[in-house]
Parts: sequence; C-alpha cells; structure tokens
Amino acid sequence: MKIEYRDLCIRNAEARDCEQLAAWWNDGAVMDHAGFPLGLGTTAAVVRGEIADDSDDTRRRLIIELAGAPIGEMSYSNLGGGTAELGIKICDFTKQERGLGRAALSMLISALFARGYTRIILDTNLKNLRAQHVYELLGFKKLRINKDSWTNQLGELQSSVDYELTPENFVNYAKD
Ligand SMILES: CC(C)(COP(=O)(O)OP(=O)(O)OC[C@H]1O[C@@H](n2cnc3c(N)ncnc32)[C@H](O)[C@@H]1OP(=O)(O)O)[C@@H](O)C(=O)NCCC(=O)NCCS
Repeated sequence: MKIEYRDLCIRNAEARDCEQLAAWWNDGAVMDHAGFPLGLGTTAAVVRGEIADDSDDTRRRLIIELAGAPIGEMSYSNLGGGTAELGIKICDFTKQERGLGRAALSMLISALFARGYTRIILDTNLKNLRAQHVYELLGFKKLRINKDSWTNQLGELQSSVDYELTPENFVNYAKD
C-alpha cells in the first residue's frame, strides 16, 4: 500500500524501517498512550520478523512520512466480515497537532473503504481526549466505554473507549 496526499505518504513498513520502529516502540514517552510507559524492550531483529508476515489481506504495519521523513506509524488488521481495525501513532512529537493525524487517518480509511471494507474499528485510552476528539471529527461513533478493563505496564488500571466508523459517517480530511 502506498497512499500520497500533499506532502504526506503512507507506505508499507519494510525491513529498512525496523531500526526506526524498534526505537519508537522502545521509547516510553511514545508508547505511554498504549500502556507501555517503559517501552516495549524489543529489537530491530524482532520487529523485522514480525512485519515479515504482513500482507495486504491480513495486516499491515505502515510508515507515515512527511516530506520523505518518517514521523510515525499506522497499522490495520483485517478482522473479517468487512471490518478492519486501525492504529496510529505520530511518534515525532513536533509533528503532532498540525492536522496531520486527521489527514493520515483519512488517507488510510479512504483506501480501506475503497478496498471493500465497510466498517473500521479502533479503541483508545479513556484519558486520550485528543485522539477521541480527532476520531469523532472523522465521524467515528462511540460504541462503549470499558471501565478499568486492563492494566498498563506499571499495573495501573486503565479504561478504554471503543469506536466504529461506517462509510456514510466518514468525514474525509484528505481531499482537496
Ligand atoms: C492522536 C493523534 C493521531 C492525533 O493526530 P494530530 O495530528 O496530533 O491531531 P490533529 O492536529 O489532526 O487534531 C488535533 C485536535 O485535537 C484537539 N485536542 C488537542 N488536545 C486535546 C484535548 N486534551 N482534548 C480534546 N481535544 C484536544 C485539538 O484542538 C485539535 O482539534 P481542533 O482542530 O478541533 O481544534 C496524534 O496526536 C498521535 O499520534 N498521538 C500519539 C499517539 C496516540 O495517541 N495515538 C492514538 C491512540 S489510539
């Protein structure tokens, strides 16, 4: 997959991206939102093995590039029945809150709907108000709140919010 819009590009993660992905995933500041404030403690070799099995039809780890430089990652998984689950992290903090997240999400969601998916789901931490705001701008509808449903790496109880998006509700921020 390779999707371009203005100076943004979303492309498949490849072997050459594994050092960067491992560096991001080992950074507790980047991974805190996902429940890993101490980082994943992985290696480029492990990441290389993980992404080697990716395929368009099953799951893809994707790199977000801005003017040719990696600024974060996205992913999708095919859950079957026309449903895909998404994830996004803009890992370069200096590139957050510039409208790039809603544009990158729009690019990937458009591509997935064009491929025949009819429902996109994702979840986020109940404390992640910025992500919830962006998802709701895109047309995602809140399905449920899972109160104290999991514990993070430090053993602290966390709550999450589940969202879903269908084509009729999608607001596309990546079209001129
Ligand atoms: C969440 C994320 C994808 C959003 O992308 P982004 O490029 O930073 O966001 P945008 O610039 O498109 O939009 C930011 C919006 O959030 C709003 N916002 C910022 N902080 C907020 C808060 N605490 N509460 C509510 N809204 C907030 C901004 O005002 C802006 O909305 P507006 O245009 O209506 O004013 C990105 O910040 C990111 O990757 N964060 C780290 C990882 C993460 O949280 N991933 C998602 C978890 S599942």
